[in-house]
Amino acid sequence: MPLPDSFLDELVARCDIYDVVSRYVPLKKSGANYFGVCPFHNEKTPSFSVSRDKQIYHCFGCGAGGGVINFIMRIENMTFPEAVRHLADLVGMEVPEESGRDQFRARRQRLTDLATDAARHYVAMLYGPQGQAGREYLLGRGLRPATLKHFGLGFAPEGWDGLIRAMTAKGYTKSELMECGLVVQNQSGGVYDRFRNRVMFPIIDIRGKVIAFGGRVMDDSTPKYLNSSDTPIFNKSRNLFAMNFAKKTKRNYFLLAEGYMDVIALHQAGFDCAVASLGTSLTEEQARLMAARGKEEVVICYDSDEAGKKAAQRAIDILGRSGLKVRVLRMNGAKDPDEYIRKNGPEAFENLLRRSYTDIEYRLADIRGRYDLEEAEGRVEYLQEAARYLATVPSEVEREIFGRTVAKEAGVSEQAMLAEVGRAVKSRYRRERAKEEKQALNPVQGAQPAQRQLRYSNVRSARCEEGVLTLALSDVDLLRQAAGQLQAEEFSSPCLAKAYALLLRRMEQGEETSLAHCLGALEPEEGELLAKIVANAVPAADPQRALRDYISVIKTEHLKQKNKDAGENDRDELLALAQRRLQQERERGGM
Ligand code: UTP
Ligand code: MN
Repeated sequence: MPLPDSFLDELVARCDIYDVVSRYVPLKKSGANYFGVCPFHNEKTPSFSVSRDKQIYHCFGCGAGGGVINFIMRIENMTFPEAVRHLADLVGMEVPEESGRDQFRARRQRLTDLATDAARHYVAMLYGPQGQAGREYLLGRGLRPATLKHFGLGFAPEGWDGLIRAMTAKGYTKSELMECGLVVQNQSGGVYDRFRNRVMFPIIDIRGKVIAFGGRVMDDSTPKYLNSSDTPIFNKSRNLFAMNFAKKTKRNYFLLAEGYMDVIALHQAGFDCAVASLGTSLTEEQARLMAARGKEEVVICYDSDEAGKKAAQRAIDILGRSGLKVRVLRMNGAKDPDEYIRKNGPEAFENLLRRSYTDIEYRLADIRGRYDLEEAEGRVEYLQEAARYLATVPSEVEREIFGRTVAKEAGVSEQAMLAEVGRAVKSRYRRERAKEEKQALNPVQGAQPAQRQLRYSNVRSARCEEGVLTLALSDVDLLRQAAGQLQAEEFSSPCLAKAYALLLRRMEQGEETSLAHCLGALEPEEGELLAKIVANAVPAADPQRALRDYISVIKTEHLKQKNKDAGENDRDELLALAQRRLQQERERGGM
């Protein structure tokens, strides 16, 4: 149910972006704009700008940008309707179509009720006569009865319709079971239970509602774990397993593990701050979910195999970008935290935590592991690769501290090591400068949007399209002028054409034509691109004349493209003719 333009317009008009943003980010005035430290990436010097005139934000560092609704979506990790509701509450506006919304909410409520009832059913099965195998399996893995209860673990017995029968008896329909991801449809349209002969792990959202399940086989068959697919109430990239418990922890960090069993074993051992990203690699939304709880740090304790190390590296980057401090745990002699604790006990794990590496130490340890330090060659190579890595560390103090450590390990003098790092830093600068120069000489590269799917096919035209939009957004008279001469179809970039068409439509309907008011009708990445264009715009000395020039280039480029397309059609036609001719000659020759 789309919201009416008039409602969104009023909402945007009432929510001043400066007021909203400054609830999260301290802003300082500088020239026409306000600046602060970007909440969406890790930085020390402020490159996050807010324009009160234009009611948009843009980060010159990471490229994030948009309007007030988009800002709330990002920072609060909300969907569009959620962000709208949040802002409406803030300024005391009533969101229209409340009835449709109520229906929507009722639908979700029904599905969470179903998921909760299904969880109860699985629990009942675990403790019933059919659940013996499940109980033996879970207890056999070292879980205590109280832990099974705490996590609501259950059991899905063998059979095709145990859950279907239990839930339909409670009044749920098959289509509701389907929508909730609890059953699977066969080819003839019938349905059967998705989870059979598995121990069941309910997935609970941060507010404590059951929203999905994971089910594990009790032997070596595959798939080892079966998970609910995404449903209206479950989006796996936006949830962390056990966050409902971990959010209450008194510890000032989260432990991030890979699997259900790791998290459960950790909680049982007293580490009530453990969560898992459940088989997907960590997403930005999950990172924000952790960052938003006001904890300082995340300790990654992924599996110790190669896949786990790779995943840890990715997680370090993602967590770093949301401003969290990161440490990484390295386990020896166990493949994951569950196994480690079973073998060595909680105290040993606590020690491991105390000795966990910062991300720099972790990277260096990883590099060290690849060389044989008993050999002179191995030492030199270790030293050089470590120096290259340290050259990418922004803090000079850290470069020095860790440079010393490496020197000791590689058995060289501190001076020699620091000189090596210094050389690596210089050569890195040189490479970067060369790259910048190359970009400066090749404007096409720098002129492209960061968003891949929005790449310009004709940069010359797109530059002018950007110009027209900037002028049109700054002054409705210029928009009116452009409207008389230029059609959206003449644009080369589909995204810019969409924005222009939107502006024309809004102008015709007598609606506001500022960027802030258009953002609701654009995709987030489109809004981001436009915010960037507007934030980077330099005011034209003679706007009328600039507009005329832009329009003339766009028209010329459009005509060129049309002729080219036509030329290609001609060529295609000729080719077809020639082929037909050849065919005919062959046939005749064969007669
Ligand atoms: P692992 O294979 O490391 O399993 O997968 P685990 O957690 O150690 O499981 P146990 O100890 O053998 O029971 C880590 C996580 O990846 C997801 C699950 O969330 C699992 O906990 N996964 C794994 C799946 O979704 N499906 C699979 O088939 C395997
Ligand atoms: Mn395991």
